[in-house]
Amino acid sequence: ATCVLKKKFSASQFWNDCKKYNVTVFQYIGELCRYLCKQPKREGEKDHQVRLAVGNGIRSDVWREFLDRFGNIKMCEFYGATEGNICFMNHTGKIGSVGRTNFFYKLFFTFDLIKYDFQKDGPVRNEQNWCSHVKKGEPGLLISRVNAKNPFFGYAGSYKHTKNKLLFDVFKKGDVYFNTGDLMVQDRENFLYFWDRIGDTFRWKGENVSTAEVADVIGMLDFIQETNVYGVAVSGYEGKAGMASIILKPNKSLDLDKVYEQVVACLPVYAYPRFLRIQEKMETTGTFKLQKFQLTEEGFNPLKISDPLYFLDNLKKSYVPLTKEFYDQIMLGETKL
Ligand SMILES: *[C@@H]1O[C@H](CO)[C@@H](O)[C@H](O)[C@H]1NC(C)=O
Ligand SMILES: *[C@@H]1O[C@H](CO)[C@@H](O)[C@H](O)[C@H]1NC(C)=O
Ligand SMILES: *[C@@H]1O[C@H](CO)[C@@H](O)[C@H](O)[C@H]1NC(C)=O
Ligand SMILES: *[C@@H]1O[C@H](CO)[C@@H](O)[C@H](O)[C@H]1NC(C)=O
Repeated sequence: ATCVLKKKFSASQFWNDCKKYNVTVFQYIGELCRYLCKQPKREGEKDHQVRLAVGNGIRSDVWREFLDRFGNIKMCEFYGATEGNICFMNHTGKIGSVGRTNFFYKLFFTFDLIKYDFQKDGPVRNEQNWCSHVKKGEPGLLISRVNAKNPFFGYAGSYKHTKNKLLFDVFKKGDVYFNTGDLMVQDRENFLYFWDRIGDTFRWKGENVSTAEVADVIGMLDFIQETNVYGVAVSGYEGKAGMASIILKPNKSLDLDKVYEQVVACLPVYAYPRFLRIQEKMETTGTFKLQKFQLTEEGFNPLKISDPLYFLDNLKKSYVPLTKEFYDQIMLGETKL
């Protein structure tokens, strides 16, 4: 087949290019489909020849919106990593799912979803030091058996890097598993859903907060272009408090009451972001994923961060500007989070 490559992805030119080159299939990664949905609506958006999109990382809400706007395109979501020894793909078009497993699949790819301890940052081990499966519907760490049929070749350089991705003696002495670093949920019909990256989930008040879930909820507001959720350390508290870093749509203003309403209506109390940060632009990785590391390091100190900061005020039932006074009160434990 003919393949069209462009030097740089352009959300505004994407559909023009598809039409110009009679594209019928495209490949997506990361947040690419969301960038397309965030483009202003235009006449004749369904007027193209694209029938299939293949890729990974599309969120269910984006998937729905994408089909609504750009027509009946078959989305083929798959899961995999370049170096991994497992992948899932099922072109059934079940919204949100990365694939489905069945008896035969499990003969070829021995994978499991195991309990994960977010505090210790490792799989849960019982007294005998074995790992255990999660129940259907519960998020667990996806691991995949390494054996002759499904080898893991590892990385160049020191063996340390390769070893870091492996789990040993998981269910019995001598077994080896590849640790994908991804938390997934399997439903009753054996469809698999991506839940979060390990490092992205944080603990707050003894609960596990999925940053992807919180970002989905806030991202539904019509004045918001991008949401990046992560946890920030607060002295005197265990775990991390949620922070949502936001970019507004052009010419839209921030409605703090609406953010509060949305958060309260759609999330459990422990998952409410305690802080908001308004950014002009966000850094993404080479695969269109949002950077979190730097932001997490920067925390929520208004003296260090020049972007506007807000914090959740339960009494006012809204978010209020995070002033130096509030910051000091939080640090001294006078204002409870
Ligand atoms: C696209 O399809 C049209 C109609 O079949 C054809 O005239 C045109 O040359 C095609 N363009 C390309 C770049 O292949
Ligand atoms: C994909 O899904 C279809 C319909 O749900 C099912 O019949 C089929 O067995 C699945 N294929 C694989 C490889 O899981
Ligand atoms: C959080 O995750 C850990 C490890 O998987 C699990 O044991 C615990 O029950 C979870 N907590 C909640 C409230 O889901
Ligand atoms: C935003 O407003 C400015 C000035 O009113 C206007 O020129 C611009 O086209 C608007 N941008 C969008 C994306 O609506």
